[in-house]
Amino acid sequence: MEENVNRRDFLGMSLAGVATIGAIGTLYAMKKSWDPLPSVVTGGFTTVDISQLQVGELKTFEWRGQPVYVLKKAADDTKVEGRDFEVNGELYTVGLQVCTHLGCIPLYVANKKEFLCACHGGVFNSSGVNLAGPPPRPMEIPPFNIDGTKLTFGEEGEVYKQLVSKA
Ligand code: FES
Repeated sequence: MEENVNRRDFLGMSLAGVATIGAIGTLYAMKKSWDPLPSVVTGGFTTVDISQLQVGELKTFEWRGQPVYVLKKAADDTKVEGRDFEVNGELYTVGLQVCTHLGCIPLYVANKKEFLCACHGGVFNSSGVNLAGPPPRPMEIPPFNIDGTKLTFGEEGEVYKQLVSKA
């Protein structure tokens, strides 16, 4: 009897330990993906400098109270018309990181090059296009303007207009 209790206690403590490590890992991953790019926020406009982004890296920041992401794609990634654009020969994509099903925040899984929405299993590709699950359409592209390596969200620049005209 005592052996069963000790085994149960041991299993309980082991499970709690694994859960704690998992929770810490999840919080660290969320914090990492929310580390902002250097940004300036004024009057509904958010300007971010993308010059420090590494290939395959995604950064999320806040624009008008909503999460917006910028992803620098790899050279061998396919350019998705209506979603991706080039700055100085490098491929980028941006979007509102809000699921088009019921508004949860999908997390980017870099090794899969997909956004996964934990709420109901929605899947988006790295350009924000819905692939599977209940999301009915791609994630929205926020209005933005490009000036050198700076993107200003809230302004409708030429690249933004071209992207949304092809969507
Ligand atoms: S809110 Fe994302 S799949 Fe439902």
